[in-house]
Amino acid sequence: MKRIVIIGATSGIGREVAKLYMAQGWQVGVAGRRTAELESLRQEAPAQVYTQVIDVTSDDAPKKLHALIEQMGGMDVFLLSSGIGKQNYVLQPEIELATAATNVEGFIRMTNAAYHYFEQQGSGHIAVISSIAGTKGLGAASAYSATKRFQNTYIDALDQLSRMNKLNLSFTDIRPGFVATPLLKDDSYPMLMKATDVAQQIVRAISKKKRVAIIDWKYRLLVCFWRLIPRWIWVRLPVRN
Ligand SMILES: NC(=O)c1ccc[n+]([C@@H]2O[C@H](COP(=O)([O-])OP(=O)(O)OC[C@H]3O[C@@H](n4cnc5c(N)ncnc54)[C@H](OP(=O)(O)O)[C@@H]3O)[C@@H](O)[C@H]2O)c1
Repeated sequence: MKRIVIIGATSGIGREVAKLYMAQGWQVGVAGRRTAELESLRQEAPAQVYTQVIDVTSDDAPKKLHALIEQMGGMDVFLLSSGIGKQNYVLQPEIELATAATNVEGFIRMTNAAYHYFEQQGSGHIAVISSIAGTKGLGAASAYSATKRFQNTYIDALDQLSRMNKLNLSFTDIRPGFVATPLLKDDSYPMLMKATDVAQQIVRAISKKKRVAIIDWKYRLLVCFWRLIPRWIWVRLPVRN
């Protein structure tokens, strides 16, 4: 019996991934801020699902993660799907700072807690859902794109650190393109993917222990193309959704 903890399982991608692991018979620990959504997941498979209200921006989040792991009797895979993001063409500081608090501070808090847990245990797998938005700075969503790049780099750093410390840890950085979830608010985005399809690809990437998984193939091509664009051209492109 394998055990996964998913932070940010109350909606969108995290919720669909949780359902797939439930269908595969895993013990699934789900967390987020919304109690009713956590409870409705638990009702679907009460013998397999454990819930914990966790706000990643709060100092007590690591303590609550440990309480969830204790309920489950351990953790083999940690998946961080919590995140916020908004377009911010007028550069409102509150939006930028809230994005950093969740996607940077909350991300550090939770990946550090999982890293230390697996360090003690001697093995484990940390997976995070970042985004293709980290590939380039996006004027439409400065904090979102920058925080996603931060996540990409931070996972590279943790991977190197764990090897320096001779730990048996695995890391998977999952980078989806646009997915139809509440995060996007509307469905006017191009190349929009279904959360159920993306969840399947995420479960596959985790089971194969892929180091970086860009989802899907169309976005893999787009990212290759974006990377070829020199900065002096990129900053002149009006990239909107
Ligand atoms: N949708 C896309 O196009 C897309 C593309 C690439 C990457 N992503 C990334 O995928 C991840 C999941 O997003 P989604 O699209 O599935 O959006 P979503 O449906 O809005 O889900 C976001 C999840 O994050 C949780 N969350 C937000 N703030 C939190 C906090 N302070 N503490 C704990 N949990 C928090 C939410 O739970 P509560 O509200 O219950 O706390 C929710 O479960 C995000 O990291 C996002 O950046 C999304």
